[in-house]
Amino acid sequence: MMDASRRRFLLTAGVVLSSVLHARFTAAADNELRRRQPLTDSRYDQWAARYDMLNGGHESALPRFFGLEQLRREAAQAARGDVLEIGMGTGLTLPLYSERMHLPYHASPGSVDTDSIHRVVGIDASAGMLREARRRRQALPKAQRDQVTLLQADASERLPFEDASFDVAVMLYVLSVADDPGQILRESLRVLRPGGHIVVADHVRSYLPLVAAYQNVTADAVRALSKGCRWNLDLERLLHVAAGDQIQVASRKRILGGTVELIIARLCLPPQPAPASPLARL
Ligand SMILES: C[S@@+](CC[C@H](N)C(=O)[O-])C[C@H]1O[C@@H](n2cnc3c(N)ncnc32)[C@H](O)[C@@H]1O
Ligand SMILES: *[C@@H]1O[C@H](CO)[C@@H](O)[C@H](O)[C@H]1NC(C)=O
Repeated sequence: MMDASRRRFLLTAGVVLSSVLHARFTAAADNELRRRQPLTDSRYDQWAARYDMLNGGHESALPRFFGLEQLRREAAQAARGDVLEIGMGTGLTLPLYSERMHLPYHASPGSVDTDSIHRVVGIDASAGMLREARRRRQALPKAQRDQVTLLQADASERLPFEDASFDVAVMLYVLSVADDPGQILRESLRVLRPGGHIVVADHVRSYLPLVAAYQNVTADAVRALSKGCRWNLDLERLLHVAAGDQIQVASRKRILGGTVELIIARLCLPPQPAPASPLARL
């Protein structure tokens, strides 16, 4: 057991640290407002250069150790056809997609009968994160590079894409930091073709009651310390609320004591008219 003075010290240190960081974020947000760029989000810019160390990339042992790298691989594996990645960040998935960007691509538009990836559109609100993603894109072979489009956009606004224009929408660790995750999910469903897939991985509330309670209690502090991340999401419920019975969960996986979850869900086809009975022709 921790003695009372030690506990008090840790609590004070925690509060001081989180308020300092919080103040820093608030200042950054104010600057952004002053610059009046409604479609951009600078909160991530200052993290862009250091982001990969904690979140992935070959250089980094930490994510591999925690199983995060494997989960990202599995998420990327579900991408095919026309892929939209929302909140692509520094583009950690680009090298994973590139393995399946086969050329030339012969399938007719809308028919995704292979594992191939036809094109990738990556959007992010942060210019700084996108700069890193552009660097990753540049490292791809030219033919594959040409299949990747990067775009600065806020996914909680209307996305600049037609309805039903993608086969897969990928969102990795975005919903937990976004201001309006429900709106982002609804937009991603709008631009998805029927039968397409939505691939989300994020920090979630553990199924272990003690861990979940700890996450609940520390949620505000974590939010202040971690670029605004809510680490006690209920991802499946979020999906359910945004999509109702439009989607069916195809697979789910949890790692790290149930605190990180990958869900792959399928956008249901619209109800088909019942096939005419062969007898009707007689
Ligand atoms: C934790 S990072 C995850 C980045 C990347 N998906 C990955 O797995 O490494 C969250 C990213 O979402 C972006 N983001 C947050 N809200 C967004 C929004 N409303 N529209 C677009 N991007 C957003 C941030 O700029 C940041 O790059
Ligand atoms: C954590 O908070 C959520 C609601 O915010 C609640 O539904 C859940 O039961 C809480 N879990 C624990 C273990 O405290």
